Order: sequence, then C-alpha cells, then structure tokens
Amino acid sequence: MMNVENMPTYDQSEQLAKAEAGVDQLFAQRKDRWYPLEHIASKAGWINDPNGLCYFKGRYHAYFQLHPFGTQWGPMHWGHVSSEDLATWRREPVAMAPSFEAEKDGVFSGSAVISDDGKMVIYYTGHRWRNGVNEDEGNLQEQCMAVSEDGIHFEKKGVVVPCPDDRIPHFRDPKVWKQGDTWTMVFGVCTPEHRGEIWMYTSPDMVNWTFVGPVYKHPDPKVFMLECPDMFPLGDEWVICYSAMGLSPEGFEARNHNNAGYVIGSWEPGQPFKQETEFHLWDDGHNFYAPQTCEAADGRRLMFGWMSPFTQPIPMDEDGWCGQFTVPREVTLAGDHLRTLPIREFDQLDEDKQDFGAIELGVNESRDLVADAQTADIEMEIDLAHSQAERIGLEIHRTSNGDHTLVCYDDQLERVVLDRHANTYGDRGYRTAPLDKSEGKLKLRIIVDRGSVEVYVNDALEVISSYSFPAEGPRAIRLVAESGEGKAIVSSLSIAKLRTIWETPDR
Ligand code: FRU
Repeated sequence: MMNVENMPTYDQSEQLAKAEAGVDQLFAQRKDRWYPLEHIASKAGWINDPNGLCYFKGRYHAYFQLHPFGTQWGPMHWGHVSSEDLATWRREPVAMAPSFEAEKDGVFSGSAVISDDGKMVIYYTGHRWRNGVNEDEGNLQEQCMAVSEDGIHFEKKGVVVPCPDDRIPHFRDPKVWKQGDTWTMVFGVCTPEHRGEIWMYTSPDMVNWTFVGPVYKHPDPKVFMLECPDMFPLGDEWVICYSAMGLSPEGFEARNHNNAGYVIGSWEPGQPFKQETEFHLWDDGHNFYAPQTCEAADGRRLMFGWMSPFTQPIPMDEDGWCGQFTVPREVTLAGDHLRTLPIREFDQLDEDKQDFGAIELGVNESRDLVADAQTADIEMEIDLAHSQAERIGLEIHRTSNGDHTLVCYDDQLERVVLDRHANTYGDRGYRTAPLDKSEGKLKLRIIVDRGSVEVYVNDALEVISSYSFPAEGPRAIRLVAESGEGKAIVSSLSIAKLRTIWETPDR
C-alpha cells in the first residue's frame, strides 16, 4: 500500500510544462552582458549544484538544481544539459519537478548510476519544510529514487531512505556507486547534536537500503552539515569531499560563506574512512561550491563545480538568469593534493590563438594585449627567478571606466592573487592561492568568460574561480607590472578566443 509520503501532490507532466514556461518567460528578458558562453548554465532562471552527472547511452548528462520561476533560490527542480563530446552542450527539457508528498517543497541534489539492466537510476533528496513554509523548524528530507530509459523522462519510485530521527534537521544529497556487488550510498547529515557527518547505506538491489554507519565525522564542532558529499577511488587512494557549513575562515582559507574541499585517505567497505591528509579546498576563489564528480567513459574522474554567488545583491539577478558551473575538470592525484585541470576536450574550443612570445616590462609599465575579449583562454609563464616587480599579472575585463579584475603574482604575499577591488558590479575583495616560489617560475592558465575568471595555477595544483562582472564597453586584457626594483619577465604568453559550448547559442 502506498504510504503518505509517496502520495502524489501534483501532476508531474503539468509541473514540468509549468517549469519550461517559467524558464521561457525569464529567457525572453535575458540580458547577455554576463551570460556564459563557456560554462554550463540554465537558459534562464536560478541554478545551483551539479546533479546526476553520468555517461549514459553515448552521451554525458549534467543535471542541475534549478529554480525555473526566478533568479534567486526557490522551489527546486532538476534542469538538464547533455553532450556527446564534453565540449559542446545541448539544452534538454527540465527533468524533474516536485510531484509527491516527500518532495513537495523541492527535488534536491543527488546523483546518477547505471543499473545492471542498463537504466539510468537517480537518487536525490525529497525536501519538505517541517513547518510547511520555511526552515525555522528544520527540514524533513529523505532519499528518493527515479528511473529513466533515456535520461530525459523519469519515473519516480518514491522514498528509499527515510529520515530515521525527527531531530535530524539536514539529511540530504545522496551520491551512489557500485562497490563490488554492492550499491553504496553516502549523503550529508546534521546529527541531533548538530555535528556534520557523512552516512553510508548499502543495498543489494538498488531499492532496499541498510544503514552501515557514519563513514566520516567532521572533527570541528562548529561544522554542522556536510552538503553534497562525494567519495571515490583515485589510484591507490580514496577521496572524500564535501561542502562544509559552519567552517570558520583562517588566514587565506575558507573565506566564503560555505566552503568545499576534500581529504585523501583509505577506506575498506564496512569501515569508516581513514583520513591521511589535511583538508584542502577544491578551489581558492570567491565562487566555488557543491562540486560533484563522475567517471568518464575512459575512466577519468571528472568534476563539475557550481560558481555560487554567495553574497547579495547578485548582479545577474536582474538579467533573467543566475549561476553557472565551472569548466569541467579532470581530477588527478599529486601527492597529498589533487590537481583539477580543465578537461582536455575544453581545448577544442580554442580559436584565433595569438602568441605574444616573451615580454619584459619595466617598473610600473603596462601593455594592452587585446582590445575586447568576451572570452579568452590565456596561457602565461612568469619567470619568478629573474623578475623584480612586486606584482606581475593581467588586468582582465578592463573597461574604459577603469574597472578590471587583476590576476597577478604578488611577491610580498608570495601567492597568486585574484583581486576584484576595481569593479563597479558585484562583490569585491580578493582571494589568493599558494605556490612554491622555489621553482623559479609560475605557470598560469586563465579562462575568461563574459562574467567569470578561472585561474589554474601550476597545472591546476590550485585554482581560483570567481565571478567578475565587467562594466559597459569593450573588455580589454592588459599586462601590468607594479613597483619593485626592476623588470617583470614573462617567458611566454598566448591568448586564444573560445568558441561557445552551446550547440544552439541562440536558445
Ligand atoms: C547545496 C544545497 C544542497 C541541497 C541543494 C538545494 O548548495 O544546499 O545541500 O540539496 O543545495 O538546492
């Protein structure tokens, strides 16, 4: 017999049609000054976390948390894009809308796996407000299941992991994989004692799930929830990652409202995870959160993050859309660290590459390189051993009123800096990433889109991802050297434009 939580509340196809109409209405007014050409985003409306990343029947699928009726977070749906080659993306219809009791206030984040009989199976969180209207009395969250033959249409199967304790305020974001013959699920929990933990369940048949225990408990008592946890093997190691709520900033680290990172260690089924490294942020930028990974068809571990705006007001909120993913990244081990380089497929988008060769700048000298770049893929090497400038770098999104975002090496900090203090639009502030100066050189790859900058430091040992909203007019790129005893030496520099990722750019 159907229990109450699986009772239909709305007709799914009607809800999906309404969501499409909502997105279309916002799209009709969309302004494109900052709308991404190189990053996954909804055609219009608000998006957050990447969901259900998978390779299925010859295509990659990326779903995302979508509010189709506004440009701020709201009742959650699943939006959808897909790609054959991971370089060009096609927009797909909205995949899921709330339609039964347990998910009546939102279909929250989750993941996809392919069943042994070749179907896409999605596990996600059904969300309800305990008081029916807002979070004041907590959330009632349960893990739900849906099945698809084509990745477009989903048949909902209802709740498979109910919340075991009324005192649990957060219980969400299942990530599932097959370990030997056992389906294994992890998700984030805020315990009744308000501690952030990752719990594990297993199942022989994808439907009946048994609690194994907490696989990871955050050591910091202030961390009360680990959102969007993920867990995967890499070489001989295991990685656990999560998006922590409640972490305090410390020096250059964890300066965003919530902060996403990973630890590396070992794990045996049935046992807790053994942490062997420190916690590292995935990304040092202003706007990175809730990443999810999946395995590519060739075994690579791919990661897509969400560029969370975090602070209000959000400038693109007026433009009919809000939120984009990062460029998809390949995750590889580098000692006690993970590298997260743009996937090689992204290079296919480069066109009209201009090679500037080696450049030397005198004290406080600058040079305009490009007069107007909507997008750019920049590669640059700085000779740290022979440069004497205090700061060497690029002003990006430089408009005639002087606005720009500075990406530079700062010799006082001995760090790479992304500084937005000279911007009219959006949150300002700076973020930095460490580097090993003793190597004598610094390699930067910088991916510029209409409203964002991603900086990959020394083959992505560190990454800084931040929104950057340029002012009106052409957007120049300028090389600059600031102060110091002598020259700034750039050993190589090239700038390519990028072809858009969208299969049909006008939609
Ligand atoms: C993370 C998150 C998830 C949740 C989803 C709701 O950004 O809060 O924990 O499932 O967003 O949209």
